[in-house]
Amino acid sequence: MRTAGVIRFVLVLFTLVVTWLFSRTYLRDWPRSFRNLADLKPAKNKCGNIRSCAKHHFAFKIISGAANVIGPSMCLEDKMIMGNVQNNVGRGINIAFINGANSEVLKCGSFNLYAEDPTELIEFVKPVPAGTVVMIATYDEPASKLTDEARKYFTDMGSAFGKNISFRDNWVFLGVVGMNITSPYEKWIKNDAYANKYDGWPEVVEMEGCIPRKMK
Ligand SMILES: *[C@@H]1O[C@H](CO)[C@@H](O)[C@H](O)[C@H]1NC(C)=O
Ligand SMILES: *[C@@H]1O[C@H](CO)[C@@H](O)[C@H](O)[C@H]1NC(C)=O
Repeated sequence: MRTAGVIRFVLVLFTLVVTWLFSRTYLRDWPRSFRNLADLKPAKNKCGNIRSCAKHHFAFKIISGAANVIGPSMCLEDKMIMGNVQNNVGRGINIAFINGANSEVLKCGSFNLYAEDPTELIEFVKPVPAGTVVMIATYDEPASKLTDEARKYFTDMGSAFGKNISFRDNWVFLGVVGMNITSPYEKWIKNDAYANKYDGWPEVVEMEGCIPRKMK
C-alpha cells in the first residue's frame, strides 16, 4: 500500500513536470504564432495605395509607361483595367472610360500617335457622354501626331496639360468628360535630355487617389 502510494505520487509529479516543461516550451510561443498567421494577411489598401479611401469613393492608381520598355497600368477599385498582363496597352495614349456611379469599365483604347493621326482617337472619345470618368496613361511616344482638335477633348475632360504633351513626355490623368473645372488628378513630366532618368525618356509618373462615386 505504501509503495503504491509512493509510485502514484512519483507518477503524478512526473506528469506535472512534463506538462510544465511542455507548456514552457510551446505555449509561450503560441500567441506569437497566432500573430504571425495574422501577419500573413495584412490589411492592404485597394490598388496597393498608400491611403485608403472613404466610403462612396473609388480607389485608383495610374502609372505611365517606363521608356519604351514597360507598358503603363491603370488600377481601379483593386482591379487592373489596363496593363501589360491585360494585354490592352500600347505605345501612345491609353484611355479608359468608366461609369462614375459603379466603377464599371465602359471601354478602353490604345492610340499610337507616332504612327497615326488622331482620327481614331477622336472617334473613340467624341461619343462619350458628359459625366463619364476617364483615365489616361502614356507610353513611349504620345504626341507626334496630336492635333489641337484632339487636345481640345482632353481640355474638356478637365486636363490642364493635354495641350502641352510633346514628344516622349509622360502623362497620367484622371478627369470627367464635360468637367468644367481643372482636374486635380494629373501629372506630366517633360522629355528633357538633361533631366531624363532614361536616355531618351523621362522617369515614370505615378498617381493614386480616391474619386467620389457619382450619385444619381
Ligand atoms: C501649355 O501650352 C499652352 C498653350 O499652348 C501655353 O500657353 C503654356 O505656357 C504651356 N504650359 C507649359 C507649362 O508649358
Ligand atoms: C459646362 O459649362 C457649360 C457652359 O458654361 C454648360 O453649358 C455645361 O452644362 C457645363 N457642364 C457641366 C458638366 O457642368
